[in-house]
Amino acid sequence: MKISQKSAAYIVQEEKYGAHNYHPLEVVLSRGEGPFVWDVDEKRYYDFLSAYSAVNQGHCHPKIVGALKDQAETLCLTSRAFYNDCLGPYEEYIHNYFGYDKVLPMNSGAEAVETALKLARRWGYSKKGIPENQALIVGCEGNFHGRTISIVSLSTDPDSYSQYGPFTPGLIKIPYNNVSALEAVLEKSSKHIAAFMLEPIQGEAGVFVPDDGYLKKCYDLCKKHNVLFIADEVQTGIARTGKMLCCDHEGIRPDVVILGKAISGGVLPVSAVLADDEIMLTIKPGEHGSTFGGFPLACKVAMAALEVVKEEKLVEKAEYLGNIFRSEMRKVNSPFIELIRGKGLLNAIVIKPHNGKEAMDICERMAENGLIAKPTHRHIIRFAPPLVITEEQLREALKIIISSIKELE
Ligand SMILES: Cc1ncc(COP(=O)(O)O)c(C=O)c1O
Repeated sequence: MKISQKSAAYIVQEEKYGAHNYHPLEVVLSRGEGPFVWDVDEKRYYDFLSAYSAVNQGHCHPKIVGALKDQAETLCLTSRAFYNDCLGPYEEYIHNYFGYDKVLPMNSGAEAVETALKLARRWGYSKKGIPENQALIVGCEGNFHGRTISIVSLSTDPDSYSQYGPFTPGLIKIPYNNVSALEAVLEKSSKHIAAFMLEPIQGEAGVFVPDDGYLKKCYDLCKKHNVLFIADEVQTGIARTGKMLCCDHEGIRPDVVILGKAISGGVLPVSAVLADDEIMLTIKPGEHGSTFGGFPLACKVAMAALEVVKEEKLVEKAEYLGNIFRSEMRKVNSPFIELIRGKGLLNAIVIKPHNGKEAMDICERMAENGLIAKPTHRHIIRFAPPLVITEEQLREALKIIISSIKELE
């Protein structure tokens, strides 16, 4: 990819002084607004990653940034050693918004997943009666739930887990989108199983959409065996798939919901675990927490970000624009395109290498043409623009995607 001297200097700096734990596309961004970002040379791009679906409300949304500024000048952090006048209103807001008795606020998505795992084990011991230290949690192959030791203990991706052992015990992996596999493990070990955790669509794995009815069947099996159904909606939640939560597509209400990313519109790391009292109150004072979890700044930012989702009808927009995206892309006849899949504005194209070119080459060409997206697992490109994108902008972006693919054929 051609890069300017100015961009190169930033890239060299990161390379020299930062850990090499990412491999970014070579664009150096310096500002954003709505569905757009600009690089250090003032070139404009459509952002089709949205920071892995954190920026659903668009870059630098004035309402969210306004809430940030107001609260930053008032009170940022108190810790949970004291009460403050933002957390209670935020917790009540989340209760009314998502309909769960309680919220446990955290910061990153991975922390919220860890919280859900602890909550599930705690519920397993104190409510279900699993013998101490014998609780099991079932997850799915191909998952991505974050980067902590326990979470990568559940991963089947060698990049995520290799040489990070020894791993956390008590985790069982079964194939995704396979009801019989869940049924078999529940039939065998349900007395010891506290929870089944899954992504309603596997995002990082390449936007794997399970068969219709899969979530509901899994949910029913969990109910039958007194096992918690935990939905990791960190990437799929907050309007991204054309419903507020992706589980809403099948009309199910998970026992535990994990949220992150877009709950703050990408302005601060804010995450949350939602559950009813029977589960949430099994954790008592002093038994879990985080210095920043639910800090005043986060509470105000998240409330503003969630208001934007409703005010700007982002659920409906994701549904409407997602249908346009998939139907327009499905009209394209190209040797590169193997498959198009997704829900709402969480979509992916599976790329077949052609002419010695693969997904990364397409992403580089799209960047040259003014649209950024990134391959996941080498041959899949995820397309997830901010949900505030207009139909006209989406159609312009589609032209860039299609012409970039055509130019490489
Ligand atoms: C489904 C899912 N869960 C958890 C995480 C982890 O979130 P974070 O990177 O904020 O720790 C991610 C991140 O991509 C995710 O997609």
